[in-house]
Amino acid sequence: MNFQIDKYISKKRAVVEKRLEKFFRTGNKRQSFLKDSIRYSLLAKGKRLRPVLCLASCETFNGNLSQALPVACAIEMIHTYSLIHDDLPSMDDDNLRRGVPTNHKVYGESTAILAGDALLTDSFNLIVKEGIKKNISTDIICELIVLLSTAAGSDGMVEGQVLDLESDTNKNVTVADLKKLHLLKTGALISASAVAGAIVAGAKNDEIKNLKKFSDSIGLAFQIKDDLIDDNEAGKTGKSGGSDRKNNKSTYLTVLGKKKSLSLIEDLTKKSNYYLDRIDRNTTILKNLADYLGKRKR
Ligand code: IPE
Ligand code: IPE
Ligand code: MG
Ligand code: MG
Ligand code: MG
Repeated sequence: MNFQIDKYISKKRAVVEKRLEKFFRTGNKRQSFLKDSIRYSLLAKGKRLRPVLCLASCETFNGNLSQALPVACAIEMIHTYSLIHDDLPSMDDDNLRRGVPTNHKVYGESTAILAGDALLTDSFNLIVKEGIKKNISTDIICELIVLLSTAAGSDGMVEGQVLDLESDTNKNVTVADLKKLHLLKTGALISASAVAGAIVAGAKNDEIKNLKKFSDSIGLAFQIKDDLIDDNEAGKTGKSGGSDRKNNKSTYLTVLGKKKSLSLIEDLTKKSNYYLDRIDRNTTILKNLADYLGKRKR
């Protein structure tokens, strides 16, 4: 069957964006500077790959998509917070994100920090409130909170960002160091996105184990690709191109070179397929999504 992954992603992206817009609609409330800055980054043109992955995973395990939608939106909020903070002068010091000036360039550094804080905090509020409204069991809500807070916190994404910043001054970064760093700063949330969808759907433990291995591989491949895009085509992606070079970052490109990095992405995509094949479900969507991510240009 010729599955059209582009169409699938566009459709799901539209659903996620509509819901995000609704969650942050100002309505008749007094316009707030903080909410403006949140909306500015959250509703700018992101690819929405993490929420789409969450929904695709839920669908793969025959889950209820209406239950997964707030979880998918919460993941996009966590991701957007990480981008706002990643762009700050004390981090990557970038000027362009999602095709528009970075949050701190428009709203100032303190509001950008607070917009990130609010997005992270509100994401968990959303999962609990909407979860209860949509009859997700309390056990599953707790499982989701533990999963996402672990992926985003000091044993996950935040630790990855610390290792990333440390690597700026370390010229002896190895492939093993980079793998660890990339799995934490990017892989953890991508993997948790897939697993969250499966948890909402009530997937079995052995299914989740294989799904985790699948999504760790695509998460690592995603950041290797990001390193390659940064050097080449970031201008076209709505980000400041050459950010890693400017910050003297060690990346897969600087440590392994372009050719080996590209073949590693291919290997990781194959590896991800191997784990999907161990799941006794129709995994067409996830398979196509992994291939799409491996080949993405933005
Ligand atoms: C950028 O993520 C940050 C990384 C972890 C590589 P995306 O490439 O998914 O950015 P958006 O969400 O489309 O803006
Ligand atoms: C960012 O990695 C990872 C997180 C935001 C957690 P990068 O610094 O490579 O992301 P981009 O290239 O700025 O999007
Ligand atoms: Mg960074
Ligand atoms: Mg960056
Ligand atoms: Mg990058």
